[in-house]
Amino acid sequence: MQVNIPLKKVIDNSYDITIDTIPTTYFDTKVAIITNPKVAGLHLGYLLSKITAKELYIITVPDGEEYKNQDSIDLILESLFNHRFNRKSMLIAFGGGVIGDMTGYASSIYQRGIDFIQIPTTLLSQVDASVGGKTGMNNSYGKNLIGAFHQPRGVYIDPCFLTTLASREFGAGVAEIVKMAVTFNKTFFEFLESANLKNPDILEDAIKQAVQTKADVVAKDEKENGIRATLNYGHTFGHVVENETKYKKYLHGEAVAIGMVMANNTSVKMGLMSNDEAIRVKLLLEKYNLPTNYNVENEVDFYETFYLDKKSSDSKITFILPVGIGDVKITDECEREVVLSVLNEFGTD
Ligand code: GLY
Repeated sequence: MQVNIPLKKVIDNSYDITIDTIPTTYFDTKVAIITNPKVAGLHLGYLLSKITAKELYIITVPDGEEYKNQDSIDLILESLFNHRFNRKSMLIAFGGGVIGDMTGYASSIYQRGIDFIQIPTTLLSQVDASVGGKTGMNNSYGKNLIGAFHQPRGVYIDPCFLTTLASREFGAGVAEIVKMAVTFNKTFFEFLESANLKNPDILEDAIKQAVQTKADVVAKDEKENGIRATLNYGHTFGHVVENETKYKKYLHGEAVAIGMVMANNTSVKMGLMSNDEAIRVKLLLEKYNLPTNYNVENEVDFYETFYLDKKSSDSKITFILPVGIGDVKITDECEREVVLSVLNEFGTD
């Protein structure tokens, strides 16, 4: 005998991303704002002037990638149990990518899933991490290896938070903006080449274009079965750079900038991109003081670390390579020798 469970439901997970001043909002339910002491010190007063709720709690977790772990998730969950949150309750992620990913993950597992809203406060999380429902935490095996796809109910991108951003954090966000342009939108790339993102109006325009690009990709492939993997352009190489430097030397976006240059050099060797185009991308990154060079000490060790990448299998490594500017391809047909020669030449002027 077989019992069939018909589960072919169409679930509407659509949501709006508002790029503007946070609207004054009352939530008729229990709400917890998840944040860290740094963001709370700078911006919680502003948020509390905008958001009220039937019951409102603040949960702070320590600041930093090293706290993106089970201990912090437990801290959040225990607080929700103590305050008797139920399935109608809601979380608000208020911080950068670490806070967003952990809040999303906690909301995906608390009582099998409750709603959450993203209010990202760094440029990187505004243009990338807060959009698309990837949530998770790190463990001893690597970054983001535990998690869930859990879409937020909404995202509020308020440019006012960027005024307090340190210049390296700003550059790290620009790297993700450049990523969206190189992979999908040549006109956007040309706009970035002539724009000064330090101008708040121009920055807001760039955020809108980057978010629209990401939203279009996520709408086509929410669970990363295909095209969404292209958003990892620069990440395959960048994750190795982060891993080799123990996550201490470079911010994530900085490592991605180095990774994009490595991917571009690979594309040039494979005849997918011209040298001139690769130079244009490098110059754009350097305009925002992003690192574009890295001393690869041992290219074979570097290559072996690719196997830790979630996209790779035991035998094949998947690379995301730009095709000119404005197009991209996912390939596991990249010769090991080609990549080794790119790595070998890297770090030498
Ligand atoms: N940050 C890449 C993605 O959301 O797919």
